[in-house]
Amino acid sequence: MSFYITTPIYYVNAQPHLGHAYTTIATDVLARHMRQRGEDVFFLTGTDEHGEPVADAARAQGLEPRELADGNAERFKSLMPVLNISNDFFIRTSDPQHVLRVQEVLQRVHDNGYVYKGIYEGWYCPRCADFKVENEILEGNLCPIHEIGLTRESEENWFFKLSSFEGRLLELYSDRPDFVMPRHHFNEAHAFIESGLQDVSLSRAHLSWGVPVPWDPTHVFYVWFDALLNYYTALGYARADQDLVERYWPATYHIIGKDILKFHTVYWPALLMAAELHVPEHVFVHGFLLGADGRKMSKSLGNVLDPFEVMDQYGTDALRFYLMRDVPFGSDGAVGMDAVRARYESELANEYGNLASRTIAMIQRYRDGVIPAAATDELLARDFDVLGAEIRAVMDRADPTRALELLWQRIRRLNRYVEERAPWQLARDLEAADQLDQTLASLAEGLRSISVLLHPYMPASTDKLLDALGAPDTEYGRSLFAERGSGAAVKALEPLFPKRAE
Ligand code: MSP
Repeated sequence: MSFYITTPIYYVNAQPHLGHAYTTIATDVLARHMRQRGEDVFFLTGTDEHGEPVADAARAQGLEPRELADGNAERFKSLMPVLNISNDFFIRTSDPQHVLRVQEVLQRVHDNGYVYKGIYEGWYCPRCADFKVENEILEGNLCPIHEIGLTRESEENWFFKLSSFEGRLLELYSDRPDFVMPRHHFNEAHAFIESGLQDVSLSRAHLSWGVPVPWDPTHVFYVWFDALLNYYTALGYARADQDLVERYWPATYHIIGKDILKFHTVYWPALLMAAELHVPEHVFVHGFLLGADGRKMSKSLGNVLDPFEVMDQYGTDALRFYLMRDVPFGSDGAVGMDAVRARYESELANEYGNLASRTIAMIQRYRDGVIPAAATDELLARDFDVLGAEIRAVMDRADPTRALELLWQRIRRLNRYVEERAPWQLARDLEAADQLDQTLASLAEGLRSISVLLHPYMPASTDKLLDALGAPDTEYGRSLFAERGSGAAVKALEPLFPKRAE
């Protein structure tokens, strides 16, 4: 089955930060998991380059918008391999192919009768590039997201008849209770639609950095419409030799942060309906990462967690693991360097890394480096047999945090097993040779099956470990706990998560 998953496209007016890394890593984990399962995955990320935010930032730096966009898009793009992201394409909304396709789709929306000319007056946030409706505005006419002053703007605009989609959107929500996930965000979006929709501005007149409106080239499209369409346009040109629209549209999952819920759960499906295109299957809305003090991260509060510092000290896999482990996906959560260190030391270094080192060292010491081809422990098997199906079920609900919890229960189970069986004692007793064979075979097998399932989270470390266990295959079926040890030769393994000097 095809599985098309996307991240938001990131504004190039800012430097990449933890929030961007978070969404991208979560999306990568889901994409890698589905690839393991043999699904036909396409994973898209990229940059959002048009509109005021970029034009303003460029002006402030004395640059042309394109120069700023080129430089910053490159920063986002080069971050992908650093985070070990497996995206299949990186879209830039300044790509000429994107621009052409945006014009094509929006021309159709126009021709279908959903566009008209009118005067827009309202409170506008230049950082959001969004007009705010009255009940969103903070006291003193401040933006609810950026807490900066809104400007009163009035201009002649092209409008999109969002209001005429109220009924169809409500129908969509009642037909598809998992259109927006998790549930509390479904309810939020649903309530927004129920409270009544106003038409929205589709174009801006006093801006040249954008996609020109084909029927009125004195306007460019309002950046959100240009941006949302990236999910569709990319499929048209990501591969020179094939049109991927047939194969992947509609998207299976859009993964987004809760700040952009309205655009993805209200405007976007309405726009697609207006263009006679299928709406995505799911929009998954995750929460916000907060500073360790539980407040919004901000440089002035000094509570920002720097992903590059985490990677420098603990490595990319540790960052990926930490973000998926510490904050339940779908909720807000506090993050900080102390918590990273605690998880790294207790869970990665002690529980998982140590288990791996000990298991391999014991196989080397007691069995000349060969995993005994002995029957595995039945009790342990009972715990492990259901693991693959459990993970599959929670990942189908896009819950990578719960999946990690299930995996960690098994890692702890294996550590208890080592203590219960005390292989170092069995090794002293020749009559216990079978038991020792069984213990080592079971440990190697448990570790292998867990590592296959952990692979989407920590690709580099699990590859090393699986290679050391002589079983590098990470296909999902391989996560099954086998009845017998493999008989494979193990290889020496450097500590996967070395202790860090304080
Ligand atoms: N360009 C728009 C999105 C257009 S999608 C068609 C945009 N870009 S952004 O650069 O501001 O990125 C916003 C996204 O970054 C959020 O939706 C979220 O995925 C991520 N995050 C930014 N800060 C975040 C946190 N503090 N915590 C978690 N994720 C956050 O909006």
